[in-house]
Amino acid sequence: MPHRRILVTSALPYANGAIHLGHLVEYIQTDIWVRFQRMQVNDDGSPVEVHYVGADDTHGTPVMLRAESEGLTPEQLIDRVWKEHDRDFKNFSVGFDNYYSTHSPENRALCEEIYGKLEQSGLITKRPVEQFYDPVKAMFLPDRFIKGECPKCGAKDQYGDSCEVCGATYSPTELKNPYSTVSGAEPVRKSSEHHFFKLSDPRCEGFLRRYTQGENHLQSEAANKMKEWLGEAGEGKLSDWDISRDAPYFGFPIPGTDEKKFFYVWLDAPVGYFASFLNYVKKQQAVGKTINADAFLRPGSDTEMVHFIGKDILYFHALFWPAMLEHAGFRTPSKVFAHGFLTVNGEKMSKSRGTFITADSYIQQGLNPEWLRYYYGAKLNATMEDIDMNLDDFVARVNSDLVGKYVNIASRAAGFITKHFDGKLRAVDPSDNNTLAATAVAMGSADNIATDYENREYGKALREIMRIADIINQRWDKAKPWELAKDLARHPELHSVCSDCLDAFRILTYYLAPVIPETAAKALTLFGVAGQPRWNDIHISPVSVQPYQHLMTRVDPKQIAALVDANKENLKVTTPPPSPQPSPSKGEGASSTAEAATISIDDFTKIDLRIARIANAEQVEGADKLLKLTLDVGELGTKQVFAGIKSAYDPATLVGRLTVVVANLAPRKMKFGMSEGMVLAASGDAPGLFILSPDSGAQPGMRVK
Ligand code: MSP
Ligand code: ZN
Repeated sequence: MPHRRILVTSALPYANGAIHLGHLVEYIQTDIWVRFQRMQVNDDGSPVEVHYVGADDTHGTPVMLRAESEGLTPEQLIDRVWKEHDRDFKNFSVGFDNYYSTHSPENRALCEEIYGKLEQSGLITKRPVEQFYDPVKAMFLPDRFIKGECPKCGAKDQYGDSCEVCGATYSPTELKNPYSTVSGAEPVRKSSEHHFFKLSDPRCEGFLRRYTQGENHLQSEAANKMKEWLGEAGEGKLSDWDISRDAPYFGFPIPGTDEKKFFYVWLDAPVGYFASFLNYVKKQQAVGKTINADAFLRPGSDTEMVHFIGKDILYFHALFWPAMLEHAGFRTPSKVFAHGFLTVNGEKMSKSRGTFITADSYIQQGLNPEWLRYYYGAKLNATMEDIDMNLDDFVARVNSDLVGKYVNIASRAAGFITKHFDGKLRAVDPSDNNTLAATAVAMGSADNIATDYENREYGKALREIMRIADIINQRWDKAKPWELAKDLARHPELHSVCSDCLDAFRILTYYLAPVIPETAAKALTLFGVAGQPRWNDIHISPVSVQPYQHLMTRVDPKQIAALVDANKENLKVTTPPPSPQPSPSKGEGASSTAEAATISIDDFTKIDLRIARIANAEQVEGADKLLKLTLDVGELGTKQVFAGIKSAYDPATLVGRLTVVVANLAPRKMKFGMSEGMVLAASGDAPGLFILSPDSGAQPGMRVK
């Protein structure tokens, strides 16, 4: 084997939401692999070189709008979220060598270089694209910022791609009475020039065919998906990729467009892997460590580049990204490893059920992150199958495996060694089969377990580790050390069994180190081992053991109940729900879907309620329910409002009356004209509709609070 040099990445989380347990599947999966590689050495004993980088994915419309709604600049928002993400990853021991941001000078320079090269190669083309445009907000709208009535069942407030009520799927243009979720205005169709990466060019198609079907860059299920996406040669299934977005947009301007066009976030996001790596190389340089960046980023070397991703973003990583790199003079990924999605108790994570659990709430509830790392490890394999976190199973598995089988060996055996043998372990006697019974078994599985980790078959590795733990515990129970301890004559036997079980425990600790690094580090200090553990060190048997120190507590089911409760209340979480299906159309993050039960006073004060004088009221031709009101709202001027109160009021009786209006409701274009507010009225099951009026003395424009 040559010297392995590996650049490893996890997908870059969006900078508009919190890290949750779904994300952690990926970061923990990657981190386990990275930690396993760090334990390995090359044939000549030199350590395998592995660099693990990540970053926040900061650009795009959702970040821009989210910042605006929080009264922040995008830079302020991404700075805050970066700190939160960085904290979460550290809490779960996700050991990035560098955690950076796509909003960085390195990334901008790389994007410009890549774009320039593609342009030179004739792989950029421009053509007009018609898209939804918000005339009030003066911006183009990504599809997920458009809602309307389902064309099938008429359900209101449905997204542009599918109906949550009847399940119909359709395109945003088919929505009835569409409106922008940003301003409430009716979107119009508007055309503008877009820049495309010519994926349909025979050079790209030819390359992608070779890339996705050869050399095992992809898992077989992923390669099959690609076959589907690529179609037959000559079928022309690949379409060009739209890589530009119009201002206003938070991102990098496309050179030569006068800041009118920006790179689409998905163009600069994967480039962020390289940017983070280059930033890391620079920082290492500053402390006197040289990494040959070109060896990792340019073609023609034997370094590896490995991307861990979720199955929902396969299209971007297996098609666009390699094609871009190939034609811009960069190396292409050695491996793209896709995993499935997390469900909790068999269902999609849900805020109302409290199973949309943030990484931070898990820590805040005092749960041990290594429990989760172990549980995910036990569930993970090399496929794209979804993984389920059953909360009862989580408690049972962690308690029985980690505490019951693994930690218990050490606490019991070390106790006897400390008490009766002054901490000294019995030297191995190779002629006595029995002295080495458990240790030999543990040692014997080193290669199989290593192979499983390398192949991302963590579940298989952990089953083997627990099988060995069972054998150690059986040896322990059979020897009945607590009886041996009472009989001085049998102390050599006691010494033997305790030493054997402890040494086997030590070996298991190495095997578990990629999964539960903190616990493993603590456990190894019992044997005087510190620093980076190495797989081969299983062969170095210790001569003594320190007095046992507590390693891990059991999970109390009450803690899990509290966690779920805490996330039920946690209605401020605005992370997008995961999209369940792999879909090439996955956009730029999603908007908030918090289900509000109670609201805070801050939420309430967002509503600008004002006293209004009805200056005029009239019938609307063709409308059965509406009256058109002209409202005098004092300092806010006049507003035109369509109110559904025709059944209850004769317009003439309304003129001159005072009422209450929601003054900051986004204007909404209705069939009969713009409606710029909402008049408050009461109604119930019984017939009747009653508009509100203030006590006498109130003046138009006064705030209601
Ligand atoms: N920003 C993009 C990735 C850009 S990579 C150049 C993105 N961000 S994300 O925050 O939505 O997701 C980050 C990673 O977490 C993705 O690989 C995604 O598949 C993964 N997961 C997000 N929710 C998940 C689950 N519920 N379960 C498992 N993985 C999940 O996509
Ligand atoms: Zn419907």
